[in-house]
Parts: sequence; C-alpha cells; structure tokens
Amino acid sequence: MNCRTQILPPTRDALALAARLLKEGELVAFPTETVYGLGANALDSEAVLRIFAAKGRPADNPLIVHIAEKSQLDALCQVTEDARRLMDAYWPGPMTLLLPKKAAVPDVVTAGLPSVGIRMPSHPAALAMLRECQLPVAAPSANLSTRPSPTTAAHVLEDMDGRIPLILDGGPCEVGVESTVIDMTGAVPTILRPGAVTLEMIRKVLGRGAVADSVMRPLKEGEAAPSPGMRHKHYAPRGHLTIVKGEKDAVVREIIRRYDQSENAVILAVSDHLPEYGARRAMDMGPDLSAAAHSLFALLRKADDMGYARLFAEAVPDGGVGLAVMNRMARAAGFDIEEV
Ligand code: TXA
Ligand code: MG
Repeated sequence: MNCRTQILPPTRDALALAARLLKEGELVAFPTETVYGLGANALDSEAVLRIFAAKGRPADNPLIVHIAEKSQLDALCQVTEDARRLMDAYWPGPMTLLLPKKAAVPDVVTAGLPSVGIRMPSHPAALAMLRECQLPVAAPSANLSTRPSPTTAAHVLEDMDGRIPLILDGGPCEVGVESTVIDMTGAVPTILRPGAVTLEMIRKVLGRGAVADSVMRPLKEGEAAPSPGMRHKHYAPRGHLTIVKGEKDAVVREIIRRYDQSENAVILAVSDHLPEYGARRAMDMGPDLSAAAHSLFALLRKADDMGYARLFAEAVPDGGVGLAVMNRMARAAGFDIEEV
C-alpha cells in the first residue's frame, strides 16, 4: 500500500469523491461523533480486507457496519423489538447494536460471528457520506491497531499517511470515545463496550439491561471474550500508564510520590486538581467526565509525541460516560490500577 493521502473538508465535491472511492473498493477515513472511522463498502469482502491490512488489525476482530437510514437494516440483520426501541431513542448516535446477521454481510466483516454490529452515526459529514455512496460502510476506528483511536484528522494522518487515498476532515470528534456496543442477541441487552449511551439510558427505554463484567477487568487465561475487541491490547500509549484510584487527597499524594521517583513522567489530572501538582508536568483532562472523554485519546497521543516514559492518571468516577473513560484508561494501562 502506497498512495498519496488527501485531507479534504466534507464539501460536496469531497463527499462525491469519497462515495466514488468507496464504490471502487477503496478506503476512506471519515469523522463521526465518537472517533474517526476507516470505512470500506461493507458488502465487498476485498475492500473490507483492505481495512485489516491498513490498520494491521487481527482478522478475528469484527467491524461495525454504519448506515444512514433504517431502511438499510433489512438487508443486513434481523431487528428485534428491543433493538427497534433503542434505535428510535438513540439513533443517530454513539450506539452500536449487535444483531443476528443476514447472509449479505460477508464473514470478514463479522470475523465469522453470527451477529453484526450496526450503528447510525450522528455526525453530519458521516451521514452525508453514507447517503452519497448509498452503501453500508464497515468501519473500525481509523488508528493503527493498538494505538489510541483518532479524534482529529491529524491523528488519522499520523497513522494512515500513504495507506489510504482520502481523509474527510470534520474537525475534532465531540464525544471522543467509541460507541457503546450492546449485545442484543441474548436474554438481557448487555453492554460489551461502554460509551456515551449509558446503562441508565438503556434501562430508561427497555426497563432492563446489563454491563458485561469483563468491561472493567482483564480476561482470565483461556476465558472466551464476549467481544473479540476485549482480547486485544488497545489504546496503548508507548509509555507505561498507571491509574491511581481512591479519595482525592490520597490519589494526589500517591501520584506525586511515584512521579517524583520516575524519570520522564507526566500526570493526567482533572482541571480542579492541577494546582495540587505544582510545577510537575501535568496534562489537563478537563473539568468534567464529558471533557475527559473528549480529551483522553488526544492526551495519550500527545504523551507519545512528547516521548514520556511514565504516565500517572487520576481515576475518574465511573458513572455516566465515566465508565467508558475508565474502561479505555484501564486498557491503555494494561489494567495497572492502584487503589489507595
Ligand atoms: O464509535 C465507534 O464505534 C467507532 C466509529 C468509527 O463508529 N468504531 C469503532 O470500531 O470503534 P472498532 O472496530 O474500533 O471497535 C468495534 C468493537 C470491537 O471491540 C469489536 O470486537 C466489537 O466492536 N464488535 C464488532 N462486531 C461485533 C460482534 N459481531 N460481536 C462482538 N463484538 C463485536
Ligand atoms: Mg478501535
């Protein structure tokens, strides 16, 4: 793979070009409200294989299929009554539903699984591109496998320069962490990957719902992963990240103690706590959970750019989108979480 990578704002001409490339079996990176996606025609196995090659992604990790209209569902999957109610409530938006797949969806998309992940993104450029090409678009996050997901076009270029012909630049992604993945194939709708659509939001619509317990712990030796993505190393910065969890003063004290013993270290803290760290190098996760979600991946990439060898992050509360932030941080840390 070696091509010139263009970055274009999502003008009419650029959207037409994106649609043409997708129809020809090429890859296009595009903005969504969560993170940037690396898209290919979901019905074209060869095009989908290019995604795995460009990312260096293991073939056993299935992709999410993106659509612009509910009328596209019928060709792709079986829609249950519960799924329909969640779609009505939260689509377009940061929610992926796993549903029994139909034969038209190639096995490469689902890594051979009987279910397919479907999402209708809300970013206007994503919807415009999906409408323009009239195709379901398979798209994982547009990062190299194991790197933090991209939340700007510049992040995509860092990882994909020379590997894909086009990046649509829709500015920074609003949410900043990937969509909530909900398994709709069992008795109880179950969150396999937390995101901005929370358990409370699911229960509000369906009156029930669960979070897979593997969301906040590493898989045990030989344990089957409910979602293959959980098996793989993810979101990792190059430096080693440790998360410190507990009551505020104890967390600050422990982070300072460990930072002062480390070389080339940096601290990730919420805005309010920054003054506590004095002149030590610290990065601002923002004033609240939404800000932390929005900034997390960008900060992990920045830590790489700065060449930091040790990262110490404050744990955030796990309510609302905080569970998604903690899930991504825990994986980036390889579950190195210290309770104080
Ligand atoms: O917000 C998002 O979901 C972004 C944007 C681009 O839409 N996409 C994204 O895709 O995060 P990706 O490939 O990086 O993550 C998809 C996750 C993986 O953890 C994968 O294992 C899981 O969804 N997944 C997809 N299809 C699945 C299936 N049929 N069964 C179980 N897990 C599935
Ligand atoms: Mg990903």
